[in-house]
Amino acid sequence: MRDDPHSYADVSQGRIERAEIHWNVDFEARRLRGEVRLLLDEAATGPLDLDTRDLDVESVEADGASLSFQLGERHPFMGQRLRIERDRPVKELRISYATTPEASGLMWLKPEQTTGGDHPFLLSQCQAIHARSLVPIQDTPRVRVTYGAEVTVPTAMGAVMSAGPAEEIARTDDGKTLRFEMPQPIPPYLLAIAVGDIASKDIGARTRVYAEPGELEAVAWEFAEAEQMLEAAEKLFGPYRWERYDFIVLPPAFPYGGMENPRMTFLTPTLVAGDRSLVSVLAHELAHSWTGNLVTNASNQDFWLNEGFTVYAERRLIEALYGPADATLHARLGRVDLEEVLAERQAQGRPTSLWYDQTDLDPDGEFSRVPYEKGFLFVTALERAVGREAFDVFLQHYIERFAFKSLDTQGFEAFVREALPDAKIDLKTWLYGDGLPDDAPEFPSPRLQELGDLARSWQPGQPLNSADWNATEAMLFLQTLGPLDVEGTEALAKALGLRETRNAELQCLWLSRAIEAGVEGIEDDVKAFVARIGRTKLLRPVFAALGERDDQKAFAQELVETLEPRWHVATRRAVRQVVGLS
Ligand code: BES
Ligand code: ZN
Repeated sequence: MRDDPHSYADVSQGRIERAEIHWNVDFEARRLRGEVRLLLDEAATGPLDLDTRDLDVESVEADGASLSFQLGERHPFMGQRLRIERDRPVKELRISYATTPEASGLMWLKPEQTTGGDHPFLLSQCQAIHARSLVPIQDTPRVRVTYGAEVTVPTAMGAVMSAGPAEEIARTDDGKTLRFEMPQPIPPYLLAIAVGDIASKDIGARTRVYAEPGELEAVAWEFAEAEQMLEAAEKLFGPYRWERYDFIVLPPAFPYGGMENPRMTFLTPTLVAGDRSLVSVLAHELAHSWTGNLVTNASNQDFWLNEGFTVYAERRLIEALYGPADATLHARLGRVDLEEVLAERQAQGRPTSLWYDQTDLDPDGEFSRVPYEKGFLFVTALERAVGREAFDVFLQHYIERFAFKSLDTQGFEAFVREALPDAKIDLKTWLYGDGLPDDAPEFPSPRLQELGDLARSWQPGQPLNSADWNATEAMLFLQTLGPLDVEGTEALAKALGLRETRNAELQCLWLSRAIEAGVEGIEDDVKAFVARIGRTKLLRPVFAALGERDDQKAFAQELVETLEPRWHVATRRAVRQVVGLS
Protein backbone atom coordinates (compact mmCIF):
# COMPACT_ATOMS: atom_id res chain seq x y z
CA MET A 1 0.00 0.00 0.00
CA ARG A 2 1.14 3.52 -0.76
CA ASP A 3 1.87 5.80 2.21
CA ASP A 4 -0.13 8.61 0.70
CA PRO A 5 -3.35 7.44 -0.97
CA HIS A 6 -3.40 10.60 -3.12
CA SER A 7 -0.02 10.27 -4.81
CA TYR A 8 1.64 7.92 -7.30
CA ALA A 9 5.03 8.73 -5.75
CA ASP A 10 7.08 5.94 -4.21
CA VAL A 11 9.80 7.52 -2.08
CA SER A 12 11.78 4.28 -1.97
CA GLN A 13 12.72 5.18 -5.59
CA GLY A 14 14.35 8.40 -4.33
CA ARG A 15 13.17 11.80 -3.21
CA ILE A 16 13.09 15.04 -5.12
CA GLU A 17 14.95 17.68 -3.10
CA ARG A 18 14.98 20.62 -5.42
CA ALA A 19 13.14 21.94 -8.47
CA GLU A 20 14.44 24.52 -10.96
CA ILE A 21 11.43 25.84 -12.80
CA HIS A 22 11.40 27.75 -16.12
CA TRP A 23 8.01 29.02 -17.18
CA ASN A 24 6.82 31.24 -19.92
CA VAL A 25 3.42 32.57 -18.91
CA ASP A 26 1.27 32.50 -22.05
CA PHE A 27 -2.01 34.27 -21.26
CA GLU A 28 -3.35 33.82 -24.76
CA ALA A 29 -2.94 30.05 -24.82
CA ARG A 30 -3.56 29.77 -21.06
CA ARG A 31 -0.45 27.71 -20.63
CA LEU A 32 2.78 27.71 -18.71
CA ARG A 33 5.44 26.46 -21.10
CA GLY A 34 8.93 25.46 -20.21
CA GLU A 35 10.80 22.92 -18.24
CA VAL A 36 11.61 21.76 -14.77
CA ARG A 37 14.88 20.33 -13.56
CA LEU A 38 14.41 17.95 -10.68
CA LEU A 39 17.24 17.13 -8.33
CA LEU A 40 17.03 13.83 -6.44
CA ASP A 41 18.58 13.03 -3.08
CA GLU A 42 20.85 10.47 -4.72
CA ALA A 43 21.72 8.95 -8.08
CA ALA A 44 19.73 5.79 -8.68
CA THR A 45 18.52 3.56 -11.50
CA GLY A 46 15.14 1.98 -12.12
CA PRO A 47 11.69 3.50 -12.44
CA LEU A 48 10.82 6.88 -10.97
CA ASP A 49 7.12 7.63 -10.59
CA LEU A 50 5.91 11.21 -10.56
CA ASP A 51 2.47 12.78 -10.33
CA THR A 52 1.07 14.78 -13.23
CA ARG A 53 -2.35 16.05 -14.20
CA ASP A 54 -3.26 17.37 -17.62
CA LEU A 55 0.34 18.11 -18.57
CA ASP A 56 1.75 17.93 -22.10
CA VAL A 57 5.06 16.21 -21.46
CA GLU A 58 7.48 16.63 -24.37
CA SER A 59 10.71 15.01 -23.25
CA VAL A 60 12.64 13.73 -20.27
CA GLU A 61 16.42 14.00 -20.22
CA ALA A 62 19.31 13.29 -17.93
CA ASP A 63 22.81 14.60 -18.67
CA GLY A 64 21.70 15.71 -22.13
CA ALA A 65 20.44 12.26 -23.23
CA SER A 66 16.79 11.36 -23.31
CA LEU A 67 15.10 8.87 -21.00
CA SER A 68 12.02 6.92 -21.92
CA PHE A 69 8.81 7.59 -20.05
CA GLN A 70 5.16 6.56 -20.04
CA LEU A 71 2.09 8.40 -18.90
CA GLY A 72 -0.37 6.12 -17.13
CA GLU A 73 -4.13 6.11 -17.39
CA ARG A 74 -6.01 9.29 -16.47
CA HIS A 75 -7.62 9.18 -13.08
CA PRO A 76 -10.43 11.66 -12.37
CA PHE A 77 -8.63 13.37 -9.47
CA MET A 78 -5.25 11.68 -9.11
CA GLY A 79 -4.21 12.67 -12.62
CA GLN A 80 -1.69 10.50 -14.47
CA ARG A 81 1.34 8.66 -13.22
CA LEU A 82 4.48 9.61 -15.13
CA ARG A 83 6.91 6.70 -15.02
CA ILE A 84 10.46 7.58 -16.00
CA GLU A 85 12.86 4.72 -16.77
CA ARG A 86 16.34 5.35 -15.42
CA ASP A 87 18.58 2.94 -17.32
CA ARG A 88 21.65 4.42 -15.64
CA PRO A 89 22.23 6.20 -12.34
CA VAL A 90 20.38 9.52 -12.51
CA LYS A 91 20.53 12.33 -10.00
CA GLU A 92 19.14 15.18 -12.08
CA LEU A 93 16.29 15.11 -14.57
CA ARG A 94 15.05 17.66 -17.04
CA ILE A 95 11.43 17.54 -18.14
CA SER A 96 10.20 19.78 -20.96
CA TYR A 97 6.47 20.28 -20.80
CA ALA A 98 3.54 22.64 -20.88
CA THR A 99 0.49 22.94 -18.67
CA THR A 100 -2.91 22.80 -20.36
CA PRO A 101 -5.74 25.34 -20.13
CA GLU A 102 -7.65 22.87 -17.91
CA ALA A 103 -4.90 22.75 -15.25
CA SER A 104 -6.89 22.24 -12.04
CA GLY A 105 -4.36 24.20 -9.98
CA LEU A 106 -4.47 27.34 -12.13
CA MET A 107 -7.10 29.99 -12.72
CA TRP A 108 -6.70 32.14 -15.81
CA LEU A 109 -8.84 35.22 -15.26
CA LYS A 110 -10.07 37.56 -17.96
CA PRO A 111 -9.46 41.30 -17.51
CA GLU A 112 -13.11 41.79 -16.55
CA GLN A 113 -12.58 39.45 -13.59
CA THR A 114 -10.11 41.92 -12.07
CA THR A 115 -10.77 45.27 -10.43
CA GLY A 116 -8.52 47.16 -12.81
CA GLY A 117 -10.12 45.52 -15.82
CA ASP A 118 -7.16 46.09 -18.17
CA HIS A 119 -5.03 42.98 -17.74
CA PRO A 120 -5.69 39.28 -17.35
CA PHE A 121 -4.64 37.59 -14.13
CA LEU A 122 -3.21 34.18 -13.29
CA LEU A 123 -3.41 32.57 -9.88
CA SER A 124 -2.68 29.12 -8.51
CA GLN A 125 -4.25 27.01 -5.78
CA CYS A 126 -2.35 23.76 -5.26
CA GLN A 127 -3.62 22.35 -1.97
CA ALA A 128 -4.40 19.50 -1.68
CA ILE A 129 -3.28 17.72 -4.89
CA HIS A 130 -3.18 20.26 -7.71
CA ALA A 131 0.57 21.01 -7.78
CA ARG A 132 0.83 18.11 -10.24
CA SER A 133 -1.14 20.17 -12.78
CA LEU A 134 1.60 22.84 -12.69
CA VAL A 135 4.68 20.67 -12.56
CA PRO A 136 5.52 16.96 -12.72
CA ILE A 137 6.50 16.16 -9.14
CA GLN A 138 6.19 13.75 -6.23
CA ASP A 139 3.00 15.47 -5.15
CA THR A 140 2.85 14.27 -1.58
CA PRO A 141 3.61 16.33 1.54
CA ARG A 142 5.93 13.53 2.67
CA VAL A 143 8.40 15.08 0.23
CA ARG A 144 9.88 18.59 0.68
CA VAL A 145 11.65 20.62 -1.97
CA THR A 146 13.39 23.95 -2.26
CA TYR A 147 12.89 25.68 -5.57
CA GLY A 148 14.17 28.32 -7.92
CA ALA A 149 11.99 29.72 -10.68
CA GLU A 150 12.55 31.87 -13.73
CA VAL A 151 9.23 33.15 -14.94
CA THR A 152 8.71 35.19 -18.09
CA VAL A 153 5.66 37.46 -17.95
CA PRO A 154 4.28 40.35 -20.04
CA THR A 155 6.37 43.46 -19.33
CA ALA A 156 3.47 45.44 -17.84
CA MET A 157 2.77 42.78 -15.24
CA GLY A 158 4.21 41.66 -11.96
CA ALA A 159 4.41 38.26 -10.34
CA VAL A 160 4.69 36.75 -6.88
CA MET A 161 5.46 33.22 -5.79
CA SER A 162 5.64 31.32 -2.51
CA ALA A 163 9.27 32.41 -2.38
CA GLY A 164 11.48 35.45 -1.89
CA PRO A 165 10.65 38.64 -3.81
CA ALA A 166 11.05 38.74 -7.60
CA GLU A 167 14.29 39.88 -9.12
CA GLU A 168 14.17 41.00 -12.75
CA ILE A 169 16.95 39.25 -14.67
CA ALA A 170 16.06 39.92 -18.31
CA ARG A 171 13.81 42.08 -20.45
CA THR A 172 12.93 41.83 -24.13
CA ASP A 173 10.14 43.18 -26.34
CA ASP A 174 8.04 40.13 -25.49
CA GLY A 175 8.33 40.27 -21.78
CA LYS A 176 10.51 40.23 -18.74
CA THR A 177 11.97 37.38 -16.79
CA LEU A 178 11.67 37.32 -13.02
CA ARG A 179 13.76 35.11 -10.81
CA PHE A 180 12.46 33.67 -7.54
CA GLU A 181 14.25 31.67 -4.91
CA MET A 182 12.66 29.55 -2.20
CA PRO A 183 15.44 28.44 0.12
CA GLN A 184 13.25 26.73 2.73
CA PRO A 185 12.02 23.23 1.83
CA ILE A 186 8.27 23.02 1.32
CA PRO A 187 5.74 20.31 0.50
CA PRO A 188 4.60 20.57 -3.15
CA TYR A 189 1.10 21.82 -2.22
CA LEU A 190 2.70 25.09 -1.10
CA LEU A 191 4.02 25.93 -4.56
CA ALA A 192 2.21 29.10 -5.66
CA ILE A 193 2.22 31.79 -8.29
CA ALA A 194 0.15 34.87 -9.15
CA VAL A 195 0.71 37.08 -12.20
CA GLY A 196 -1.08 40.30 -13.06
CA ASP A 197 -1.19 44.01 -12.57
CA ILE A 198 0.18 43.95 -9.04
CA ALA A 199 1.43 46.74 -6.77
CA SER A 200 2.88 46.46 -3.28
CA LYS A 201 3.33 48.40 -0.08
CA ASP A 202 5.42 47.77 3.01
CA ILE A 203 3.48 47.34 6.24
CA GLY A 204 6.39 46.62 8.55
CA ALA A 205 10.00 45.48 8.54
CA ARG A 206 9.10 41.93 7.53
CA THR A 207 5.61 42.36 6.08
CA ARG A 208 4.48 43.69 2.71
CA VAL A 209 1.10 43.58 1.02
CA TYR A 210 0.46 43.06 -2.70
CA ALA A 211 -2.77 43.83 -4.53
CA GLU A 212 -4.09 45.31 -7.72
CA PRO A 213 -3.09 49.00 -7.72
CA GLY A 214 -6.64 50.26 -7.23
CA GLU A 215 -7.09 48.13 -4.11
CA LEU A 216 -3.74 48.70 -2.49
CA GLU A 217 -4.60 51.50 -0.07
CA ALA A 218 -7.76 49.85 1.27
CA VAL A 219 -5.97 46.54 1.60
CA ALA A 220 -2.96 48.05 3.38
CA TRP A 221 -5.29 49.69 5.89
CA GLU A 222 -7.33 46.53 6.47
CA PHE A 223 -4.25 44.44 7.26
CA ALA A 224 -2.07 47.10 8.88
CA GLU A 225 -1.75 44.89 11.97
CA ALA A 226 0.24 42.21 10.17
CA GLU A 227 3.59 43.04 11.74
CA GLN A 228 2.13 43.08 15.28
CA MET A 229 0.51 39.74 14.55
CA LEU A 230 3.84 38.32 13.47
CA GLU A 231 5.46 39.51 16.68
CA ALA A 232 2.66 38.09 18.82
CA ALA A 233 2.92 34.78 16.96
CA GLU A 234 6.65 34.47 17.59
CA LYS A 235 6.03 34.90 21.32
CA LEU A 236 3.53 32.08 21.29
CA PHE A 237 4.97 29.61 18.80
CA GLY A 238 8.71 30.30 18.58
CA PRO A 239 10.92 32.03 16.00
CA TYR A 240 9.53 32.76 12.53
CA ARG A 241 11.59 30.57 10.20
CA TRP A 242 10.66 32.05 6.80
CA GLU A 243 12.39 35.45 6.94
CA ARG A 244 9.57 37.57 5.48
CA TYR A 245 5.79 37.39 5.76
CA ASP A 246 4.23 38.95 2.69
CA PHE A 247 0.70 38.48 1.40
CA ILE A 248 -1.40 39.23 -1.64
CA VAL A 249 -5.07 40.10 -1.95
CA LEU A 250 -6.32 38.46 -5.14
CA PRO A 251 -9.26 39.04 -7.47
CA PRO A 252 -12.60 37.65 -6.20
CA ALA A 253 -12.31 34.36 -8.13
CA PHE A 254 -9.85 33.04 -5.56
CA PRO A 255 -11.81 30.14 -4.05
CA TYR A 256 -10.72 30.28 -0.40
CA GLY A 257 -10.61 32.82 2.39
CA GLY A 258 -6.88 32.43 2.54
CA MET A 259 -4.10 30.05 1.57
CA GLU A 260 -0.92 29.85 3.59
CA ASN A 261 1.56 29.84 0.71
CA PRO A 262 4.85 30.36 2.52
CA ARG A 263 6.30 33.86 2.34
CA MET A 264 3.25 34.87 0.29
CA THR A 265 -0.15 34.18 1.82
CA PHE A 266 -3.00 34.39 -0.71
CA LEU A 267 -6.18 36.16 0.47
CA THR A 268 -9.68 36.71 -0.89
CA PRO A 269 -10.74 40.34 -1.39
CA THR A 270 -13.92 39.57 0.57
CA LEU A 271 -11.87 40.06 3.72
CA VAL A 272 -11.63 43.77 3.00
CA ALA A 273 -14.65 44.82 5.04
CA GLY A 274 -13.43 48.35 5.71
CA ASP A 275 -13.39 47.81 9.49
CA ARG A 276 -10.74 45.10 10.01
CA SER A 277 -13.49 42.74 11.16
CA LEU A 278 -12.18 39.74 9.20
CA VAL A 279 -8.48 39.87 10.05
CA SER A 280 -8.75 36.56 11.89
CA VAL A 281 -8.24 34.93 8.49
CA LEU A 282 -4.87 36.66 8.19
CA ALA A 283 -4.05 35.46 11.72
CA HIS A 284 -4.99 31.96 10.61
CA GLU A 285 -2.78 31.96 7.50
CA LEU A 286 0.09 33.49 9.46
CA ALA A 287 -0.25 30.80 12.12
CA HIS A 288 0.18 28.16 9.40
CA SER A 289 3.80 29.37 9.17
CA TRP A 290 4.29 27.14 12.23
CA THR A 291 1.46 24.62 12.13
CA GLY A 292 1.23 23.28 8.58
CA ASN A 293 4.22 24.87 6.89
CA LEU A 294 6.80 23.81 9.50
CA VAL A 295 4.98 20.78 10.88
CA THR A 296 3.21 19.43 7.81
CA ASN A 297 0.45 16.85 7.54
CA ALA A 298 1.83 13.68 5.94
CA SER A 299 -1.25 13.24 3.74
CA ASN A 300 -4.71 14.69 3.40
CA GLN A 301 -5.84 12.06 5.93
CA ASP A 302 -3.90 14.05 8.53
CA PHE A 303 -5.29 17.41 7.37
CA TRP A 304 -6.67 18.05 10.87
CA LEU A 305 -3.04 18.31 12.08
CA ASN A 306 -2.66 21.34 9.81
CA GLU A 307 -6.03 22.94 10.34
CA GLY A 308 -7.02 21.95 13.88
CA PHE A 309 -3.72 23.23 15.25
CA THR A 310 -3.93 26.34 13.11
CA VAL A 311 -7.43 27.26 14.27
CA TYR A 312 -6.16 26.79 17.82
CA ALA A 313 -3.14 29.01 17.05
CA GLU A 314 -5.35 31.58 15.29
CA ARG A 315 -7.56 31.89 18.39
CA ARG A 316 -4.52 32.15 20.66
CA LEU A 317 -3.42 35.04 18.47
CA ILE A 318 -6.85 36.67 18.70
CA GLU A 319 -6.70 36.25 22.45
CA ALA A 320 -3.24 37.84 22.61
CA LEU A 321 -4.16 40.75 20.34
CA TYR A 322 -7.81 41.46 21.11
CA GLY A 323 -8.45 39.72 24.43
CA PRO A 324 -10.00 36.45 25.65
CA ALA A 325 -13.60 37.63 25.24
CA ASP A 326 -13.12 37.95 21.49
CA ALA A 327 -11.40 34.57 21.25
CA THR A 328 -14.34 32.99 23.06
CA LEU A 329 -16.82 34.42 20.58
CA HIS A 330 -14.82 32.93 17.71
CA ALA A 331 -14.69 29.55 19.45
CA ARG A 332 -18.45 29.65 19.91
CA LEU A 333 -19.08 30.57 16.28
CA GLY A 334 -16.88 27.64 15.32
CA ARG A 335 -18.90 25.33 17.52
CA VAL A 336 -22.16 26.37 15.89
CA ASP A 337 -20.66 25.64 12.46
CA LEU A 338 -19.28 22.34 13.66
CA GLU A 339 -22.60 21.09 14.98
CA GLU A 340 -24.23 21.91 11.68
CA VAL A 341 -21.64 20.03 9.64
CA LEU A 342 -21.54 17.06 12.03
CA ALA A 343 -25.30 16.64 11.69
CA GLU A 344 -25.10 17.01 7.91
CA ARG A 345 -22.30 14.48 7.51
CA GLN A 346 -23.87 12.02 9.93
CA ALA A 347 -27.10 12.19 7.92
CA GLN A 348 -25.08 11.42 4.78
CA GLY A 349 -23.39 8.49 6.49
CA ARG A 350 -19.98 10.13 6.08
CA PRO A 351 -17.14 9.95 8.62
CA THR A 352 -16.77 12.71 11.19
CA SER A 353 -13.56 11.43 12.77
CA LEU A 354 -10.37 13.50 12.59
CA TRP A 355 -8.53 10.67 10.83
CA TYR A 356 -10.13 8.29 8.36
CA ASP A 357 -9.01 6.25 5.37
CA GLN A 358 -9.29 8.44 2.26
CA THR A 359 -8.25 5.85 -0.32
CA ASP A 360 -10.24 6.52 -3.52
CA LEU A 361 -11.67 9.74 -2.09
CA ASP A 362 -11.00 13.13 -3.70
CA PRO A 363 -9.48 15.52 -1.12
CA ASP A 364 -11.53 18.40 -2.55
CA GLY A 365 -14.67 16.38 -1.87
CA GLU A 366 -13.55 15.60 1.69
CA PHE A 367 -13.01 19.25 2.62
CA SER A 368 -15.22 20.28 5.55
CA ARG A 369 -15.11 22.24 8.80
CA VAL A 370 -14.68 19.04 10.83
CA PRO A 371 -10.85 18.92 10.81
CA TYR A 372 -10.88 22.65 11.64
CA GLU A 373 -13.34 22.88 14.48
CA LYS A 374 -13.22 19.37 15.92
CA GLY A 375 -9.44 19.59 15.59
CA PHE A 376 -9.53 22.90 17.46
CA LEU A 377 -11.61 21.35 20.25
CA PHE A 378 -9.22 18.42 20.49
CA VAL A 379 -6.16 20.67 20.77
CA THR A 380 -8.00 22.75 23.37
CA ALA A 381 -8.92 19.57 25.28
CA LEU A 382 -5.24 18.65 25.26
CA GLU A 383 -4.34 22.11 26.56
CA ARG A 384 -6.89 21.80 29.35
CA ALA A 385 -5.73 18.31 30.26
CA VAL A 386 -2.24 19.55 31.14
CA GLY A 387 -2.81 23.24 31.84
CA ARG A 388 -1.86 26.18 29.68
CA GLU A 389 1.67 26.59 30.98
CA ALA A 390 2.68 23.00 30.30
CA PHE A 391 0.85 23.06 27.00
CA ASP A 392 2.72 26.13 25.77
CA VAL A 393 6.00 24.36 26.46
CA PHE A 394 4.69 21.29 24.65
CA LEU A 395 3.56 23.38 21.68
CA GLN A 396 6.96 24.97 21.09
CA HIS A 397 8.67 21.62 21.65
CA TYR A 398 6.31 19.99 19.10
CA ILE A 399 6.99 22.66 16.51
CA GLU A 400 10.74 22.46 16.97
CA ARG A 401 10.79 18.68 16.95
CA PHE A 402 8.91 18.37 13.64
CA ALA A 403 9.98 21.60 11.92
CA PHE A 404 10.38 21.05 8.14
CA LYS A 405 9.07 17.50 8.54
CA SER A 406 5.81 15.78 7.86
CA LEU A 407 3.82 14.00 10.51
CA ASP A 408 0.89 11.61 10.41
CA THR A 409 -1.83 11.11 12.99
CA GLN A 410 -0.26 7.93 14.35
CA GLY A 411 3.08 9.69 14.76
CA PHE A 412 1.32 12.53 16.53
CA GLU A 413 -0.39 10.11 18.88
CA ALA A 414 2.95 8.52 19.77
CA PHE A 415 4.51 11.94 20.33
CA VAL A 416 1.75 13.01 22.73
CA ARG A 417 2.05 9.81 24.73
CA GLU A 418 5.77 10.42 25.05
CA ALA A 419 5.76 14.19 25.68
CA LEU A 420 2.62 14.40 27.83
CA PRO A 421 2.50 11.00 29.57
CA ASP A 422 0.23 12.26 32.35
CA ALA A 423 -2.37 13.94 30.15
CA LYS A 424 -5.78 12.55 31.00
CA ILE A 425 -7.32 12.47 27.57
CA ASP A 426 -8.85 9.76 25.45
CA LEU A 427 -6.70 10.12 22.34
CA LYS A 428 -8.27 7.22 20.47
CA THR A 429 -11.80 8.58 20.80
CA TRP A 430 -10.75 12.09 19.79
CA LEU A 431 -8.74 10.96 16.77
CA TYR A 432 -10.70 8.01 15.44
CA GLY A 433 -14.19 8.38 16.93
CA ASP A 434 -17.18 9.97 15.19
CA GLY A 435 -19.09 12.96 16.56
CA LEU A 436 -17.95 14.87 19.64
CA PRO A 437 -16.92 13.46 23.02
CA ASP A 438 -19.34 14.45 25.82
CA ASP A 439 -16.60 16.29 27.62
CA ALA A 440 -15.58 18.43 24.62
CA PRO A 441 -14.36 21.87 25.79
CA GLU A 442 -16.96 24.57 26.33
CA PHE A 443 -16.38 28.32 26.29
CA PRO A 444 -18.82 29.89 28.71
CA SER A 445 -18.66 33.68 28.97
CA PRO A 446 -20.98 36.41 30.22
CA ARG A 447 -21.10 38.10 26.82
CA LEU A 448 -22.00 34.87 25.13
CA GLN A 449 -24.73 34.18 27.61
CA GLU A 450 -26.11 37.68 27.04
CA LEU A 451 -26.14 37.36 23.27
CA GLY A 452 -27.66 33.89 23.44
CA ASP A 453 -30.45 35.03 25.77
CA LEU A 454 -31.15 37.99 23.57
CA ALA A 455 -31.25 35.85 20.42
CA ARG A 456 -33.68 33.43 22.04
CA SER A 457 -36.07 36.12 23.25
CA TRP A 458 -35.87 38.68 20.48
CA GLN A 459 -39.06 39.47 18.58
CA PRO A 460 -39.09 41.36 15.29
CA GLY A 461 -39.91 44.99 15.97
CA GLN A 462 -38.16 44.94 19.30
CA PRO A 463 -35.22 47.39 19.31
CA LEU A 464 -31.72 45.92 19.49
CA ASN A 465 -29.14 48.04 21.23
CA SER A 466 -26.57 46.84 18.79
CA ALA A 467 -24.79 50.06 17.86
CA ASP A 468 -21.53 48.96 19.46
CA TRP A 469 -21.63 45.30 18.51
CA ASN A 470 -18.71 44.04 16.53
CA ALA A 471 -19.16 41.84 13.47
CA THR A 472 -18.43 38.64 15.39
CA GLU A 473 -21.20 39.47 17.88
CA ALA A 474 -23.62 40.19 15.07
CA MET A 475 -22.72 36.88 13.40
CA LEU A 476 -23.26 34.98 16.62
CA PHE A 477 -26.60 36.65 17.17
CA LEU A 478 -27.68 35.73 13.64
CA GLN A 479 -26.48 32.16 14.08
CA THR A 480 -28.35 31.71 17.35
CA LEU A 481 -31.71 33.12 16.23
CA GLY A 482 -34.41 30.62 15.43
CA PRO A 483 -36.16 30.62 12.02
CA LEU A 484 -37.29 34.05 10.88
CA ASP A 485 -40.23 35.15 8.79
CA VAL A 486 -40.11 37.88 6.14
CA GLU A 487 -40.90 40.63 8.61
CA GLY A 488 -38.26 39.32 11.01
CA THR A 489 -35.55 39.27 8.38
CA GLU A 490 -36.28 42.83 7.35
CA ALA A 491 -36.39 44.03 10.95
CA LEU A 492 -33.08 42.36 11.58
CA ALA A 493 -31.51 43.92 8.51
CA LYS A 494 -32.58 47.33 9.76
CA ALA A 495 -31.50 46.79 13.34
CA LEU A 496 -28.05 45.48 12.42
CA GLY A 497 -27.47 47.48 9.24
CA LEU A 498 -27.10 44.27 7.28
CA ARG A 499 -27.94 45.77 3.94
CA GLU A 500 -25.13 48.28 4.37
CA THR A 501 -22.40 46.11 5.89
CA ARG A 502 -19.30 45.41 3.82
CA ASN A 503 -18.55 42.33 5.89
CA ALA A 504 -19.18 39.54 3.38
CA GLU A 505 -19.57 36.84 6.05
CA LEU A 506 -22.39 38.79 7.65
CA GLN A 507 -23.98 39.47 4.28
CA CYS A 508 -23.82 35.77 3.50
CA LEU A 509 -25.49 34.80 6.78
CA TRP A 510 -28.24 37.32 6.37
CA LEU A 511 -28.87 36.52 2.73
CA SER A 512 -29.22 32.83 3.57
CA ARG A 513 -31.74 33.74 6.26
CA ALA A 514 -33.69 35.99 3.93
CA ILE A 515 -33.88 33.24 1.30
CA GLU A 516 -35.11 30.75 3.89
CA ALA A 517 -37.78 33.21 4.98
CA GLY A 518 -38.96 33.72 1.40
CA VAL A 519 -38.29 37.45 1.15
CA GLU A 520 -39.73 38.68 -2.12
CA GLY A 521 -37.37 40.02 -4.74
CA ILE A 522 -34.37 38.48 -2.97
CA GLU A 523 -33.09 37.31 -6.36
CA ASP A 524 -31.61 40.73 -7.05
CA ASP A 525 -29.73 40.77 -3.74
CA VAL A 526 -28.47 37.26 -4.46
CA LYS A 527 -27.26 38.22 -7.92
CA ALA A 528 -25.49 41.31 -6.63
CA PHE A 529 -23.79 39.29 -3.89
CA VAL A 530 -22.64 36.26 -5.84
CA ALA A 531 -21.50 38.28 -8.85
CA ARG A 532 -18.48 39.56 -6.97
CA ILE A 533 -17.52 36.44 -5.02
CA GLY A 534 -15.62 33.25 -5.80
CA ARG A 535 -15.08 32.03 -2.27
CA THR A 536 -16.76 28.67 -1.71
CA LYS A 537 -17.48 29.36 1.94
CA LEU A 538 -19.66 32.35 1.00
CA LEU A 539 -21.27 30.95 -2.15
CA ARG A 540 -22.26 27.56 -0.85
CA PRO A 541 -24.63 28.61 1.98
CA VAL A 542 -26.48 31.06 -0.27
CA PHE A 543 -26.95 28.47 -2.99
CA ALA A 544 -27.83 25.81 -0.43
CA ALA A 545 -30.61 28.04 0.91
CA LEU A 546 -31.90 28.55 -2.64
CA GLY A 547 -31.61 24.84 -3.36
CA GLU A 548 -33.82 24.03 -0.37
CA ARG A 549 -36.72 26.04 -1.79
CA ASP A 550 -38.86 24.60 -4.56
CA ASP A 551 -39.60 28.11 -5.84
CA GLN A 552 -35.92 29.03 -6.08
CA LYS A 553 -34.22 25.88 -7.27
CA ALA A 554 -34.54 26.59 -10.99
CA PHE A 555 -33.29 30.15 -10.47
CA ALA A 556 -30.35 28.79 -8.48
CA GLN A 557 -29.42 26.21 -11.10
CA GLU A 558 -29.55 28.75 -13.88
CA LEU A 559 -27.41 31.19 -11.93
CA VAL A 560 -24.85 28.48 -11.18
CA GLU A 561 -24.58 27.59 -14.84
CA THR A 562 -24.05 31.23 -15.78
CA LEU A 563 -21.44 31.95 -13.13
CA GLU A 564 -19.50 28.72 -12.81
CA PRO A 565 -17.02 29.34 -15.63
CA ARG A 566 -15.50 31.96 -13.31
CA TRP A 567 -15.19 29.60 -10.37
CA HIS A 568 -12.49 27.24 -9.26
CA VAL A 569 -13.19 23.52 -9.89
CA ALA A 570 -13.56 22.81 -6.18
CA THR A 571 -16.06 25.65 -5.84
CA ARG A 572 -18.05 24.43 -8.86
CA ARG A 573 -18.29 21.01 -7.38
CA ALA A 574 -19.38 22.20 -3.93
CA VAL A 575 -21.98 24.62 -5.27
CA ARG A 576 -23.41 22.33 -7.97
CA GLN A 577 -24.01 19.70 -5.33
CA VAL A 578 -26.17 21.92 -3.10
CA VAL A 579 -28.45 23.04 -5.93
CA GLY A 580 -28.96 19.49 -7.17
CA LEU A 581 -26.84 19.71 -10.33
CA SER A 582 -24.57 16.70 -11.00
N1 BES B 1 -5.16 25.78 3.84
C1 BES B 1 -6.45 26.32 3.94
C2 BES B 1 -7.17 26.41 2.61
C3 BES B 1 -7.30 25.10 1.87
C4 BES B 1 -7.52 23.90 2.52
C5 BES B 1 -7.20 25.08 0.50
C6 BES B 1 -7.63 22.71 1.81
C7 BES B 1 -7.31 23.90 -0.21
C8 BES B 1 -7.52 22.71 0.45
C9 BES B 1 -6.45 27.70 4.60
O1 BES B 1 -5.50 27.85 5.59
C10 BES B 1 -7.77 27.87 5.29
O2 BES B 1 -8.05 27.11 6.17
N2 BES B 1 -8.57 28.86 4.88
C11 BES B 1 -9.85 29.14 5.49
C12 BES B 1 -9.77 30.32 6.41
C13 BES B 1 -9.72 30.02 7.84
C14 BES B 1 -9.80 31.27 8.71
C15 BES B 1 -10.53 28.92 8.40
C16 BES B 1 -10.84 29.51 4.41
O3 BES B 1 -10.42 29.69 3.27
O4 BES B 1 -12.01 29.63 4.70
ZN1 ZN C 1 -5.92 26.76 7.32
